[in-house]
Amino acid sequence: MDPMMLTHSQRKDGVREDPGRKRKRLRTLLALRNPVILASGPLGRTATGLIRFGRFAGAVVGKSTTFLPRTGNPHPRLISLGDYGLMNWENLPNLGYERFAEELRLAKEQCSCPVIASLGPSADLDQLKTIATTLEKAGADALELDFKWGFDPQTGNTGNDISSSGVFDQGVISATILGLKDVVSVPIIAKLVAFAGDIVEHAQAAEAAGAGAITAINTIFPAMKIDIHRQTPALSSVFGGLSGKSILPLAVAAVYRIYEAVNIPIIGCGGVTSGEDALELNMAGADGVEMCTTAMVEGPSAFRRVNDEIDNLLQELGFASAEECCGLAHR
Ligand SMILES: Cc1cc2nc3c(=O)[nH]c(=O)nc-3n(C[C@H](O)[C@H](O)[C@H](O)COP(=O)(O)O)c2cc1C
Repeated sequence: MDPMMLTHSQRKDGVREDPGRKRKRLRTLLALRNPVILASGPLGRTATGLIRFGRFAGAVVGKSTTFLPRTGNPHPRLISLGDYGLMNWENLPNLGYERFAEELRLAKEQCSCPVIASLGPSADLDQLKTIATTLEKAGADALELDFKWGFDPQTGNTGNDISSSGVFDQGVISATILGLKDVVSVPIIAKLVAFAGDIVEHAQAAEAAGAGAITAINTIFPAMKIDIHRQTPALSSVFGGLSGKSILPLAVAAVYRIYEAVNIPIIGCGGVTSGEDALELNMAGADGVEMCTTAMVEGPSAFRRVNDEIDNLLQELGFASAEECCGLAHR
């Protein structure tokens, strides 16, 4: 017998046919208007952006917030790679949590979909607790934690011992989630990166610590572009994170692997440009998807287009909802 076949069927037995395994659904955490969510990024820095995209998206996620305001890296810090997507190392330019809380309050008044706040990576749990409680009070329907740790833009390193951000492993994920669960009651979503340790172990640690859901994945690091006319790296930071179309297969693989290891819902993120891309992530195990690059390139109408494409494909394939497709590729 083909050893690959054996591995696959053994995994199938262990996962799908276990009657005691009850998968939680994203709808029990968030009343999504549709399955396509605005991912954290520049479009969600202010109320204006959140409201603009909140007219079409299933939910919106704010730009990751830090304790103090940040101006981010010098330009160029975001470049287009055409059909491949985008590359950026903006380095978290944001208003700081106090100003962002005001934006969130305004957005909540006008958005008819859930508004999720994102917390930027930090080793200071007390600061994270302050940010989390403030954003919960301002009306956040959930908190997404950006665990974009372990990236060193100076060296391109994705190892675990990074002086700028401390040691990153599943212990950091557990301690952060456990600490925040002590002070907030809204769902906590752990947003994970694909190649800074084992994303499956990170997802398991997040679930064990009480995360309500996982978002997978963030940008792929390190990526690089050379400006051949100036013979220099194109980004001021040299290395950056890759997003958009080219990372979809990495996101699909990450979601597929995580689905087999946890029971909490997964939000698939990375490279969604069409309804077909979204359904791939659903079938890999996602209960909803997030989109950043396509929203930046195309604007709010991207959400209407992708949702229409999802509906047409569901009809063609004979499914009633995207949720019904969640995990089907594991049969
Ligand atoms: C310019 C830019 C800024 C981003 N900023 C954040 C951020 O602040 N927090 C975060 O969790 N993800 C951030 N992301 C990552 C996106 O939310 C998303 O995970 C990633 O881009 C992959 O999805 P996509 O291919 O749909 O863009 C950013 C992405 C881009 C392109």
